[in-house]
Order: sequence, then structure tokens, then C-alpha cells
Amino acid sequence: MIKLTEYSKSGGCAAKIGPGHLSGILCSLPQMTHPQLMVGLDTSDDAGVYKLDATTALIQTVDFFTPIVDEPYVFGQIAAANSLSDIYAMGGKPLTAMNIVAFPVCKLDAAVLSDILRGGLEKVTEAGAVLVGGHSIQDNEPKYGLSVTGVAHPDAILTNAGAQPGDVLLLTKAIGTGVLTMAARADMFEEGVRAAIDSMRQLNKTAAEVMSGFTIHACTDVTGFGLLGHLSEMVTASHVAAEIYTKDLPFLPEAQNAAAMGLVPEGAYHTREYLKNVTFASNVADVLQDLCFDPQTSGGLLLSVAATDAERLLASLRAAGVDEASIIGRITGKGAGTIYVY
Ligand code: CO
Ligand code: CO
Ligand code: CO
Repeated sequence: MIKLTEYSKSGGCAAKIGPGHLSGILCSLPQMTHPQLMVGLDTSDDAGVYKLDATTALIQTVDFFTPIVDEPYVFGQIAAANSLSDIYAMGGKPLTAMNIVAFPVCKLDAAVLSDILRGGLEKVTEAGAVLVGGHSIQDNEPKYGLSVTGVAHPDAILTNAGAQPGDVLLLTKAIGTGVLTMAARADMFEEGVRAAIDSMRQLNKTAAEVMSGFTIHACTDVTGFGLLGHLSEMVTASHVAAEIYTKDLPFLPEAQNAAAMGLVPEGAYHTREYLKNVTFASNVADVLQDLCFDPQTSGGLLLSVAATDAERLLASLRAAGVDEASIIGRITGKGAGTIYVY
């Protein structure tokens, strides 16, 4: 069997990239302002939002990456679920998707690409969206992802900027896909790797449908900057402070063992180094600290919800089959984006 991840050489980047590094470059572009623009480049949100009329806002996002698993079909499923997630994180419903493909036609069989695309299409279909096109180039490394367009009522758009003091923080998927994809490359922790793959190819669709029945103050999905990287964007944009309880964090099976063995992606350390606003209580184990920064692929939704709604939302998520949904912390008050981890 081919080892698709062997063609994925840019997984680690020589430059130190943390939250804000690339966005710093993007922000050096002249800022776009437009009367219809609801969410643009400036707040590190999951997608751009453009108000079409009083009842419809257009949500647009794009995401693609190199293979993180060896099976082409599964890679396609994961990459598509990851791309679709940014629409759900904005409170939207995906309508259309386009493939973005880079492929080494001379090195890999065309059947590999067709498997990747079939995996992606399965997830687009499961999301109730329509694949309408795409673009492919010849490249030394395979890369795949989607550009996705969705819609929501303008009043229902969820950004990362609305968290309020007293809110409860809820996470809808277990953490550890970064350490476990490292474990997969080392042929270790088979059970954990299987659980990570199942988690990564699971859409955030059900979680998004359940949360649409509640008043959510802020939402984002947990991806490349890990739980604390994305929480940091939320608390900074919302001008609040937060605390996280590691005893309540949901972890994938064997994620803690993999982290304890040092199978921690470099990105976790870059994010940790970059974030100056995070303080750990002295008794939080190193392994748990590492996992708080573990870069996630197709991670869960991180929700900030009024304390009075939190238990009901949690029960509804669990009842709908979002089994790993957990209350993981709270917004403590106004602030400059500080996070305390217990
Ligand atoms: Co996102
Ligand atoms: Co994204
Ligand atoms: Co073209």
C-alpha cells in the first residue's frame, strides 16, 4: 500500500508559525471596508461574511492541506469535513463546495486522486451541499481541500467576538488529533489513531444544528492553533478573560500516552511560545499542557453560551449523538484576553 503521508513533506514548517504570524502578513494588506461586509480579515474569524440582503448573509471559507493519513479516501473525508467546519462555526449551512487539488501526477497513480475526491464528495453530500467545481494543479506534494460557500440569517451569524462574562465554554469533540496523527506515522497507539480518524471525518453538522436552537454568544472551531490558540482568538476578540479546567477536557483514547511519549507536533510548541496570555496552575501536568496546544484537524466547535443555557445545551448535544461534548471552562469577566488553566 502507498504511504500517502510520505509525500507530505511540508507538515512541519521551518519558520515559526503561531497564531498571528500569517494573519500579521494578511493584515498588512489595506483593510477592506464595505457596507455589506459583516466579517472580514481583521478578527481572525473562521470565514468571511457578506450580507446579501435583510434575511441572507453569504459565508465563504477555504482550507486545504497535505495528507495527514495514508488512506486516500479517508484523507479526502477528513479534509472536506475540516473545510465544511468553518461554515458551521459561523452558524451557517453549507450550500456549495469546490475542490482544491494539487497532485504529483508523475509520482502517484491517478486512482489515488480519485479516491481522495470521492472521500471529499461523500462529506459534501452528507453536509447537504453541492459540489459545483474546482481547480487542480500539478505539484510535488498532494494537497486537497474545499472552498465552501454557505448561508445564514444575518442575525444568526456567530463570530468569535461575542463571549460575555459569566458564559460557560463548551467543546464538542475530544482533543488529541495532532498527537495521534504523529502516532500513526510511528505505527503506534492503534486504538487512539482509529478514534482520531473517526473524530476528524465527523462533520460538525449535528452540533451546529443543535446549537442553532440556543442563544450562542460566540463560536469558533478548534483547528491548527489548538484549544488555547483558538480560545485566545475568542477571548481577545471578545475583550474578556477565561478559565479552563483540564480535569473536564475530553481527550481521545491514548492521546495522553502519545503526548507523554513526546509525539507532540512542533506547531503545539510554536503556539505555546507565541501566546503570552496563558497561565497554567502549577499542578497542571506537562502532558495536559501540551495537549491544550495540540493542533487539531477538523476539531470540535468551541461555544460560549449563557450559564443558564449551558446544561440544557450539553444535554441536547449528547442526546443528538455528540458524545464528547463537554463543559470545559467559563468566561470570568472583562479582560484583555487572559486565560487561566487549572
Ligand atoms: Co475555523
Ligand atoms: Co479554516
Ligand atoms: Co481553473
